[in-house]
This record gives sequence, C-alpha cells and structure tokens, in this order.
Amino acid sequence: MAHIIDGKKIAAEARADIARRVGEFEEKTGIKPGLAVVIVGEDPASQVYVRNKEKACIEAGFYSEVHRMSAETTMDELLSKLDEIKNNDKIHGILVQLPLPKHLDEKAVIEAIPPEKDVDAFHAVNTGKIMIGDYSFLPCTPAGVMKMLEYENIDVTGKECVVVGRSNIVGKPMAMLLLHANGTVTICHSRTKDLAEVTRRADILVVAIGKANFITADMVKECAVVIDVGMNRNAEGKLCGDVDFAAVSEKASAITPVPGGVGVMTITMLLENALRAAEMAAKK
Ligand code: GUN
Repeated sequence: MAHIIDGKKIAAEARADIARRVGEFEEKTGIKPGLAVVIVGEDPASQVYVRNKEKACIEAGFYSEVHRMSAETTMDELLSKLDEIKNNDKIHGILVQLPLPKHLDEKAVIEAIPPEKDVDAFHAVNTGKIMIGDYSFLPCTPAGVMKMLEYENIDVTGKECVVVGRSNIVGKPMAMLLLHANGTVTICHSRTKDLAEVTRRADILVVAIGKANFITADMVKECAVVIDVGMNRNAEGKLCGDVDFAAVSEKASAITPVPGGVGVMTITMLLENALRAAEMAAKK
C-alpha cells in the first residue's frame, strides 16, 4: 500500500509560514499584500476555486478583492476592468480565473496582466523566464507538486519523470520544473503512441489530463510515485482525480489523493506568489 502524500498537511504548514511572513512584511513596510481575482461567467467549478482562493487569501492575512463579471462581458469591458485593477495601489497580484467564456480571447487577457503582477505565471514573459530557469513567479500547480516532492524527500535527480498532459497551465511548466530538478522528462498527450508503455517507465508520474480514473494500475510501474493533478466529478458526482486511486495505491510507493492532494497546494503557491509580488513592488 502506497504512502499517501497529505497535501492538506503540507499546505497547512506552508500557509502558516506565509501568514507569518505576510504579518512581518506588513509590520516592516505598512503594506498589506493584496490579490485581485477576476471571474467571468458562472462555471460551477471555477466558482468553487475562486471562493477557495479568496478564503485562503483572507486567512493568510492578505487584502483580497474578487470581481465577478457576467458571462456576457465583452473583451473591452474585461480589459477596462483589468486596467482599473492594475492601477489600484492596494493590489499587487492579479489573477483571471480560466477558462473564460468562448467569445473572449484568453491569450490577450493574460497578456494584459503586467508580468510583475501575474501571480499565475501565465504571461509570455513569465513562461519564458520559467523556460530559462529564472523564476519571478513559479507556476502554481507545478510548484505545488515540486513542494510536495521536496517535503516527502523524493529526489528527482536522474529519475524517469513522465508528465501526462501538455497544457500551458500544468503539463508544460511541470516538465520544465522536473527538468530543472535534473529529472529525465517525457511529456505524453492524446497523440502519444502506446501511452501505457511510456507511463510504465515512470519513477515519477504526474497526470494532468482531466479524465476521471484514466490511469489504471497496469499503466504504473511497481513503486512509482504518482501525482494526480486531475479534478473531475465521477458518475455519482463525487470529486475524483485522473488516477484510479484504489488500484494504483496498491502498486505505487507514494500517491496523492483527490481531494486533499495537489489542489490545496496550488492555492498555497498562489499565496506565495502574491506575497512575492508585494515584496517586489515594495523594493521598487
Ligand atoms: N483554472 C484552472 N486552474 C487555474 C489556475 O491555476 N489559475 C487560473 N487563473 N485559472 C485556472
């Protein structure tokens, strides 16, 4: 039976440390680090994520603003909202919850956030910096995964790391962070031939494809470390990951659960980035 990596515990310790640093920063500078979150439309999953982000922010001592906009919001309206937020001195970090409604240009919205306030690290400037190993902001989900591996003393050096999924949010930056930690990294996706043959090579398997129970025990090497980034609802409406947890946990050496795994770490790393944004602004 695999060791279950307890995201909640790791996140709670990290958040307590962030809250302490937020307090110290405010005492020293008189500035309360501030995060603004923009959500457009009614996507139920996004609503839950945004509520959790807001709650975590307030609990850690940040100033928090959430801007809820209707699904019919135009590009002009969204960009002028971002302009207003950019010019608010109380706000150091800005995040636009994705996905946006189809009629909005996601790329143009991301590029409208100043790189020094881009706490998601989605802006081309920040993704470019990640590529060369110069991190102003670490991408939240991949950084959360790395923090979990570190906490569990799982050394990445020389390991076969397989990332399933090639999104800009998770798959691609995840591969970069594993590479910078000296892993031998393979990225798989929907066009990969014989996916199971590749995933079975993994000492560290990170899965981010958004399909419930997609990774079955036969796709996993004995004693692999399995990190499940998926956040899906199964037929009964219960939250579940991309990995068949019951079967794979019999074979892996360590595994993250859903919920209580990567998800809580993502928000923790967002707090880390928001504090960093405030620190950088104070230095200017
Ligand atoms: N949608 C799913 N994950 C994320 C994330 O990390 N940031 C933003 N902005 N939107 C998301």
